[in-house]
Order: sequence, then structure tokens, then C-alpha cells
Amino acid sequence: MVMQTGGYDRTILYRSPDGVDGPHGIEIVRFVWPPGSRTPNHDHSATGTVIVLEGALYEKKAGRTARITAGDVLVEVGMDVPHIVGNDGAEPAVSIHTYFTRQLRMNEYPDPPSTD
Ligand SMILES: [Fe+2]
Repeated sequence: MVMQTGGYDRTILYRSPDGVDGPHGIEIVRFVWPPGSRTPNHDHSATGTVIVLEGALYEKKAGRTARITAGDVLVEVGMDVPHIVGNDGAEPAVSIHTYFTRQLRMNEYPDPPSTD
């Protein structure tokens, strides 16, 4: 399968009234991942959780690939660790991402060398 950056749908379900840069910054986002969609290689200024509601996703980080399926929860505590999340399966996937931060941002990087 050809994996292309982007192609996923991102809907903000909740954002703190004082904004993500406020003292209680929280953002909750629903992602819908068609087969072959993926994020760029990126990091966050936030601690976050990913809950997979439907289908399956992968996360590539620090030279490892983790697979998470419906019902799994992934906790991201490495705020500045670049990673890629995507759907390399044949079915769409849906996930809910919650970020806790005072300054939510996302940096993009070139893809790392392939280890697969
Ligand atoms: Fe991320």
C-alpha cells in the first residue's frame, strides 16, 4: 500500500475556553483515517492519549512500530519525540486524541530512514 501524508479527517471536538495556550489547555480531536493515510513525522508540545474506536493504526517512533487496534489506548508522554501515525490496513480507522498542554503546537520533520 502506498502511504501518503495527509488524507485523514481531523475534527476538534473540544478546546479549552481559554484556548490551548491557556493554563488549562486541553484539546480533544477525532481523526478518521482512510486506508493509506498518515501524519507527517511530527512532535507535540503536549502530553496526549490516543484511543482507537474503530479499525487499527500504527505509530512509528524512535525506530519502533507499535500497532494499536480498536479498544487500545496509547499514552504519549514524550512531548518532543517525532512520530508518524497512520492506517496501513484495508479498513478505515477512527481515533480520539486528547492533548494536555499550555502551548499546543505540532512540528514537522522529514521522514526518518526506513527500518522496515
Ligand atoms: Fe502526534
